[in-house]
Amino acid sequence: MALNALAEAANQAIANDSQFVLNVLSDVGKALYFPKGILSQSAEAKAKANRYNATIGIATDPEGPMHLDCVHQYFNDMDPKDLYPYAPSPGKPELRTFWADKQREETPSLGDQLCSLPMVTNALTHGLSLAGELFLNSGDTVLVPNKLWGNYRLTWEVRQGAKIKTFDFFTDDLKAFNQEAFQAALDAEKGKKLVVVLNFPNNPSGYSPSKDEAAAMVASLTAAAESGTQLIVICDDAYYGMFYEDQCATESIFGALAHAHENLLAIKIDGATKEEFVWGLRVGFITYGIKNGTEALYTALEQKTGGAIRGGVSNISHASQSIVLKALASAEFRTQQAEKVSILRDRANKTKEVCEQEQYADCWDVYPFNAGYFMCLRIKDVDAEALRLHLLDEHGLGTISLGTTDLRVAFSCLEVDQIEDVFERIAAGVRSLRGVSVS
Ligand SMILES: Cc1ncc(COP(=O)(O)O)c(C=O)c1O
Repeated sequence: MALNALAEAANQAIANDSQFVLNVLSDVGKALYFPKGILSQSAEAKAKANRYNATIGIATDPEGPMHLDCVHQYFNDMDPKDLYPYAPSPGKPELRTFWADKQREETPSLGDQLCSLPMVTNALTHGLSLAGELFLNSGDTVLVPNKLWGNYRLTWEVRQGAKIKTFDFFTDDLKAFNQEAFQAALDAEKGKKLVVVLNFPNNPSGYSPSKDEAAAMVASLTAAAESGTQLIVICDDAYYGMFYEDQCATESIFGALAHAHENLLAIKIDGATKEEFVWGLRVGFITYGIKNGTEALYTALEQKTGGAIRGGVSNISHASQSIVLKALASAEFRTQQAEKVSILRDRANKTKEVCEQEQYADCWDVYPFNAGYFMCLRIKDVDAEALRLHLLDEHGLGTISLGTTDLRVAFSCLEVDQIEDVFERIAAGVRSLRGVSVS
C-alpha cells in the first residue's frame, strides 16, 4: 500500500535530520502519520469560529460541555471543561509541558539536550506498546535482563512478533549488575538493529544500579552504537523516585543516553502510575532523545506517535490528565509523595533486615534490592510455583513465582510489623516442601 502523503512528509523530515531514525522505524512506524481531517479542522475552528463551532464531536450547552449532575457530583473543584471534552491525542498541552519540566529537573545529566515534548499515554504499558509499534518489525530483537516484567512478552513478542533475548541481570555472587553479561549480549548483536530495555528500579528484583554501574552501561551502549549497532534503548522508569539506599543512581539513565550517539535513540517511558500512587488513573508519557536531535525530527516522531495513539485509543482520559496536572502543580505534591516513599523505604529496610538473616540461609538467596516495590528470593531445592501454591493454601500468603527458582515479594503492600511473619512463613513453606519437619 502506498504511504499517505503525511507519512511521506514525516519520513522525509526524519531522514533530513537522521537517516538512522528512519532506518530503525518499523514498517508500521514508517506508515504512521498524524491525520489532518477532523482534528485539524476542529483545531482551526477552535481558533477562529467565534460565532458557532459545529465541528466537535461532543455536546455542549451555554455553560460549556454538557454533563450530568449524577456524574459531576463526584468531582470536587474541577471545571467541566477539564473533564468531559476529549483531550488532544498527544495529551493535554499544559500537562506535557509540566512533565517535561519535571523530567529536566530530575535529570540534570540531560543538560541542554533537546528532547521531544512528552506525549501522554494510557500509562506506561501503552507507552511500551507504542514504542513496539513504532520500532519493532516481526523478527527484530529486544534485549532485556533476565529479571523482567513478564508483560514485555505479550507487548513485544506476541503483539509485534519480536524476539526477546535475555542476559543475566546479576553477577553469580548476586552482588551487582552483571556488566560482563550485558557487554557480551551487546557484542553478540554488533552491527544489527537492537532494541534494549533498561528498567530501573527493576521489576521484579527491586534493583537500581549505582552511578558507576549506570555509567558503565552508558559507555557500553555508546561503544556499541559507535561500532555500528543500530540501537533503540527503552528506559522503563515505572518506579522512578523510589530509591532506598545511598548508592542508587537517582537519575534516569535516559539523561545520559539521550545525547550519547547518533546511532542510539533513547525512549523514556515514565508516568504517574507508581510515582504519584495513581495506578488506576492511567497517565503515562513517552519521550524521545537522540544526540543532535532537532525540533523537526522530534515533531515528526511526535506526529507518528500521535497517529498511533489516535488510531489505537484515540486519546487518554481527560479527567485523569487534569487530576494529575493539578496534583503535580500542588504545593503539597512533593511533601506528600516523599511521605509515601518514606513508608516504602521503612518496609524495604525491614524486609532486608529480616530476609537476610542467617536462619534462612538454607531456604533462599536474596537477589540485590534497594528500590521500587519488590524483592526476589532465589529459593533453594524447592520449585517456586509449588512453594507459591503451598503458601497460598497453607498460610493464606500470596506471592508471585517466576520460573522455577524465584519468588517475588511485594514489600510495598506489607506493613512493617507483618514482614517478619511473612518470611517465617515462606521459610516454613520451603522446609515443609522439602520434607524437613518445621519446629
Ligand atoms: C516494569 C514495569 N513497567 C511498566 C509497568 C506498567 O505500568 P502501568 O500501570 O503504568 O501501565 C509496570 C507495572 O507493573 C512495571 O512493573
